[in-house]
Amino acid sequence: MKPKKSVITRRPIVVGNWKMHRTASDTRDLLQDIGTRVSRIANMDLVACPPFTSLPAASDALGRHGILALGAQNMHQNKEGAFTGEISGSMLREFGVRYVILGHSERRQLFNETDALVAAKAITAVDYHLRPIVCVGESLTQRQEKQTEAVIESQVRASLAGFPADQIEELVVAYEPIWAIGTGKVATPHQANTVHHQIRVLLTQQFGSKGADVRVIYGGSVKPDNATALMSEPDIDGALVGGASLDAKAFFDIIESARTLRAS
Ligand code: 13P
Repeated sequence: MKPKKSVITRRPIVVGNWKMHRTASDTRDLLQDIGTRVSRIANMDLVACPPFTSLPAASDALGRHGILALGAQNMHQNKEGAFTGEISGSMLREFGVRYVILGHSERRQLFNETDALVAAKAITAVDYHLRPIVCVGESLTQRQEKQTEAVIESQVRASLAGFPADQIEELVVAYEPIWAIGTGKVATPHQANTVHHQIRVLLTQQFGSKGADVRVIYGGSVKPDNATALMSEPDIDGALVGGASLDAKAFFDIIESARTLRAS
């Protein structure tokens, strides 16, 4: 039998990463649809992360749907300055943003973000009372070459270097195997849970017993038909959803899976 998850800590969390999809007006419509569906959900954290330009519209729309929180997909590590094209923590806070995805594999691969940069961003995020969702995950080659454990260990340690231990409750870690992102190839629940467990052990080594309570969520082709199997694993506390978060019904069905598991 699987060990039961703590009902006091590790509140389930489902996050939608919209990536570069939806204009501001489309954002309003999608959030209206999601908001209506989730209005009876309680005791979970639900987060929508639209593009930066949609944040004002999203902030307006979310005002009417208390359960959904707003997240951003990235931020700069400095407070302000000559950083053309960048967005700061205070700019996000102004629109009621509560979470920020950091070190997504697309940022790491396509925009050369390093572990050290992700670590600096995570520290700045908590300074602005933004909850960092720090992403880690191995490539297909790394998995095939049996390097997954070593890659995850070095990413977790380096991406959270210097993270303030007294802010550890604010942290969410997302395990997103790169080979499962947008490919329809999902990690098996056992494969995912093995890495989640490793991450939890690493967090405990780095931050003491409170490290064990950090929420570790899975991302990579999460869909309504695989969400229950993934989230019923003992070390999987929720999901970071890409494509399926752009479909209000699919996103709601994934949220329902998490809710039903916690209620059972
Ligand atoms: P998909 O759910 O589309 O595979 O994307 C996962 C992801 O990258 C979420 O951050």
